[in-house]
Amino acid sequence: MYRILFTLLFSRMDPEGAHHLAFRWIRRVARVPVLRTFVAALLAPRYEELRTEALGLRLHSPFGLAAGFDKNAVGIDGLAMVGFDHVEIGTVTGEPQPGNPKKRLFRLVPDRALINRMGFNNDGSLAVAARLASRRPVFRTVVGVNIGKTKVVPESEAAADYVKSAERLAPHADYLVVNVSSPNTPGLRSLQAVDQLRPLLTAVREAADRAVPARRVPLLVKIAPDLADGDIDAVADLAVELGLDGIIATNTTIAREGLGLTSDPALVQETGGLSGAPLKARSLEVLRRLYARVGDRITLVGVGGIENAEDAWQRILAGATLVQGYSAFIYQGPFWARSIHKGLAARLRTSPYTTLADAVGADVRTSA
Ligand SMILES: Cc1cc2nc3c(=O)[nH]c(=O)nc-3n(C[C@H](O)[C@H](O)[C@H](O)COP(=O)(O)O)c2cc1C
Repeated sequence: MYRILFTLLFSRMDPEGAHHLAFRWIRRVARVPVLRTFVAALLAPRYEELRTEALGLRLHSPFGLAAGFDKNAVGIDGLAMVGFDHVEIGTVTGEPQPGNPKKRLFRLVPDRALINRMGFNNDGSLAVAARLASRRPVFRTVVGVNIGKTKVVPESEAAADYVKSAERLAPHADYLVVNVSSPNTPGLRSLQAVDQLRPLLTAVREAADRAVPARRVPLLVKIAPDLADGDIDAVADLAVELGLDGIIATNTTIAREGLGLTSDPALVQETGGLSGAPLKARSLEVLRRLYARVGDRITLVGVGGIENAEDAWQRILAGATLVQGYSAFIYQGPFWARSIHKGLAARLRTSPYTTLADAVGADVRTSA
């Protein structure tokens, strides 16, 4: 059904236009109580065995929606309705900004991939904080808030921009993510260097604690798949040193490996971050490396190229407590999260592990 809709409608539309149209439909359905109850019962089934504790939070499932789909926190309940048990909103920047000129999102259909150079188009931390503050949640969903640097802010003042966002948004966040890995804001990824990352994460931690003295908001950092192995180890060590709660691996890649020969070469050459199937192998590799380094001391979130339950299961075995996806949602549509939950529950049942927590990192532990 969705395949027909995708082929006949979405694939003929500009990808960003298709995104807005589909997201508007989801939000409309979620506004009608009887419809949303029906759709949620169909698409967001709950499996007892998938209950997960992570970052001090209780989740119905380890599977959620990665950052970038709902940049402005306008459709959290709609996304919960279609089965995402946590929704990471953002990236939100200190100040509102329009992002890069259009066209800035490209579909590489034969490769089940996307290239985007959105450039953090968003309403800014003040507006998004106000939206989250006035939200009356319908579904019990974990809401992560992903923050990044405003483009016009010079790198030397990056920390102050992140701090501004953290102070405004931490009160409304179940967890907070420092995004230093988007390829579409000049200079952003250089913040991953440990000597820049240490003061940045320390400042954001302090800002979150100042803004929310009664609760320790979990703080995570999201990293790029393009980091060299030594740099991944360095970020992992820093995370342990600073008492960070988690690492999200990974963002999109600037590499163009893993693509078949069938996607339009002109599209392949578009500037931006590549996501979807071609990212799978590298994201998994980064996750395994992180788990080998930090073990259970830090919560790992696996993202990048997850298309089906088997991919999600492999991330859990490689060390992820939570898993996220984005691109495959575009290709597979509203039944996607449901199939992941169902497949994950089936895999756990037939595995040697009693609980999901037992499965986390099992592959890496046995190969060590
Ligand atoms: C159109 C688009 C926009 C994105 N925007 C953001 C963003 O604002 N912040 C962020 O941290 N990641 C962003 N991402 C990256 C995703 O969160 C995710 O890390 C990446 O796409 C890999 O997962 P996937 O292969 O399942 O899509 C974006 C991805 C896409 C495709």
